[in-house]
Amino acid sequence: MPLTGTREMFARAYKEGYAVGAFNVNNMEIIQGIMAAAAEERAPLILQVSAGARKYAGQAYIRKLIEAALIEDDLPVALHLDHGQDFEICKSCIDGGFSSVMIDGSHLSFEENIALTKRVVEYAHDKGVDVEAELGRLAGVEDDVSSEHSIYTDPDQAVEFVQRTGCDSLAIAIGTSHGAYKFAGEAKLDFDRLEKITNMLPNFPIVLHGSSSVPQEFVKMANEFGGEIGSASGVPEELLRKAATFGVCKINIDTDIRLAMTAVIRKYLAENPTHFDPRQYLKPAREAVKNMVQHKIKNVLGCSNKI
Ligand code: G3H
Ligand code: 13P
Ligand code: ZN
Repeated sequence: MPLTGTREMFARAYKEGYAVGAFNVNNMEIIQGIMAAAAEERAPLILQVSAGARKYAGQAYIRKLIEAALIEDDLPVALHLDHGQDFEICKSCIDGGFSSVMIDGSHLSFEENIALTKRVVEYAHDKGVDVEAELGRLAGVEDDVSSEHSIYTDPDQAVEFVQRTGCDSLAIAIGTSHGAYKFAGEAKLDFDRLEKITNMLPNFPIVLHGSSSVPQEFVKMANEFGGEIGSASGVPEELLRKAATFGVCKINIDTDIRLAMTAVIRKYLAENPTHFDPRQYLKPAREAVKNMVQHKIKNVLGCSNKI
């Protein structure tokens, strides 16, 4: 099956109150683990590639790995650029066959963000590619940009932003953040704000970044076998499930993949000190990604059997 866009995926997700998982991919094992989970669950899927992933693996490698994945499994998969920083990166991905891109102008002023997003939308739509934009700022680190404090999305600005840019989905800030250390105290999301935005933008797909749950089993396992991940914490699964019924159609997950792989590899190597064939530890790591993603699809995103 060829790559698909996100428009139809989101339209159905919105109507039926579930979210599509957008998982960050960096190598073959991650792609295989995620694909195996989605294939078993018959779930729509977004595979997303950050600038860091493009630098690590190379755009052509990622593109071809996903092409190979689509030969193996007959699934609707969107290939999405995560956190595109400027027009050129978006253009390169659009020209390179991505079906969806994110232009992240959240670090710019409102007017500059609108102007940049609009430019990307015009180029992308002309080529049938969907565009995610971001308004508001998440705390945490993404690539080389870090922000100590979040700035929650203003609902009135969100409406104006969507109308003026013509973007297809909007990432908002309501309390999630990137990485493994999301909440010092109680985990909370601003559902009143989300509801307001959803009511003011009916049928419009909302995106949540920074939505890893940081499963404690992986934190514990990594720490037990030499890691020093400390008191990592994520977004509780029930909050994500709830968000999916409030117009959130795309939920971004990267950190949980990193944690699952690293925890299992640490354990494997500690328990098998004589092994040195990467296939020996990458196999259980790939399996851990699959199981984690399958759990998300079934119990958090609610998108099993939606294809
Ligand atoms: O939002 C950030 C994603 O987790 C991607 O992370 O830029 O280190 O690949 P990365
Ligand atoms: P996490 O760090 O919570 O996995 O968020 C990933 C993300 O938002 C990618 O864009
Ligand atoms: Zn993100």
